[in-house]
Amino acid sequence: MKILVVGGGGREHAIIKKIKENPQVTEIYALPGNGGIAADATCVDIGAKDIDGITAFAAENGIDYAVVAPDDPLVLGCVDALNAKGIPCFGPDAKAAVIEGSKVFSKDLMKKYGIPTAAYETFDDMEKALEYIAKAPVPTVIKADGLALGKGVIIAQTRQEAEEAVISMMQDRKFGASGEHIVIEEFLEGPEVSVLSFTDGKTVVPMISSMDHKRAGEGDTGLNTGGMGTVAPNPYYDEATAKECMEKIFIPTMEAMNKEGRTFKGCLYFGLMLTDDGPKVIEYNCRFGDPETQVVLPLLESDLLTVMMAVTDEKLAETEVKFMDKNACCVVMASEGYPVSYEKGYEITIGQLSDNTEVFVAGAKLEGEKLLTSGGRVLGVTAVSGTLEEAIEDAYENVKTNVSFGNAYYRNDIGQRALKAGRR
Ligand code: AMP
Ligand code: GLY
Repeated sequence: MKILVVGGGGREHAIIKKIKENPQVTEIYALPGNGGIAADATCVDIGAKDIDGITAFAAENGIDYAVVAPDDPLVLGCVDALNAKGIPCFGPDAKAAVIEGSKVFSKDLMKKYGIPTAAYETFDDMEKALEYIAKAPVPTVIKADGLALGKGVIIAQTRQEAEEAVISMMQDRKFGASGEHIVIEEFLEGPEVSVLSFTDGKTVVPMISSMDHKRAGEGDTGLNTGGMGTVAPNPYYDEATAKECMEKIFIPTMEAMNKEGRTFKGCLYFGLMLTDDGPKVIEYNCRFGDPETQVVLPLLESDLLTVMMAVTDEKLAETEVKFMDKNACCVVMASEGYPVSYEKGYEITIGQLSDNTEVFVAGAKLEGEKLLTSGGRVLGVTAVSGTLEEAIEDAYENVKTNVSFGNAYYRNDIGQRALKAGRR
């Protein structure tokens, strides 16, 4: 089977490595992939947003199955376009991907169907938004409507910060057109949990839970990033919570999308906050999380491609999705200065990793035989072990002794909060 994977980050590397385990797979193409992915797939220089380029390549190269991993091509209708050429895909169509593509849509969906989330108001008029802010309690959370590269969320501690945030989004267009509509919502508190799920519109199967570390600095300080590391499972997400989420959030969301005529098939990501008032949805993503995928997929015991194809064929209910009873920790190694500005072009060396450890490359390019840094998040080092403590220890051991590049930066405390929670 010839497989095409759209995307070129650590998430796509994790997906490709797992798909490769299926003996029927003869060839994997990554569009565009990256220098590290090139070790596991044929990388083709077609951008993930180049929908015409992607579909033309798929049709010309006899692709049997495609996985569209990033949010942009999903929202742009990459799955629709590939399906129109008769190529089966993993990932939602554009109609369903709007669950991530528009925060206004997702908030209104939750309100309409009684799915627990932060209380909110939406605005397309700046004066009205400012009037509301003048009376709203702080801290308050302001979100740009569109994708905004995952950065369109501002948590304002004071009214003044809130006003500035509204002006920067709606007047100065800090996040581009996604600032045309904004959501202002209640500030929630509690541990955050990421739950990725497989769904074919009939069944929803949650994967093992995980915990992201979004801030750049240790002790969860500094700027928000795409994610500096992850652990799975998330110790805060116990069986009772999982059951409550299934009943009040996961199934109702799948059914709500069906009722709206937007059946979601693919990986539906639930970003949850476990508040004193019960679990609430912080955000939906229409795709695998990054770097959550780098801890979730290494723990998947079942064959990923089989599960993905079952989602496409709406046969998820008959398909086994099994996870190992183990723990994983992924430490992201970034370029110093990420997420603001950073130098690139340093050579990456990866030595002999421990047997339980893998590297997923996110921002690197090949120059001859050399692998050079080319992005903010450069790679993730994931270790799988019997206990969380060991997984953390092994991941860091490999980060420190087996992987190196100039200007490397990583957090030293990935998993520490989970470790403390697990010991309660
Ligand atoms: P998002 O891009 O929606 O995931 O938001 C980024 C981060 O902002 C989340 O992971 C949370 O840590 C935080 N956040 C978003 N919405 C809220 C909220 N209503 N209350 C508190 N924190 C929030
Ligand atoms: N790690 C969060 C995300 O993928 O959006």
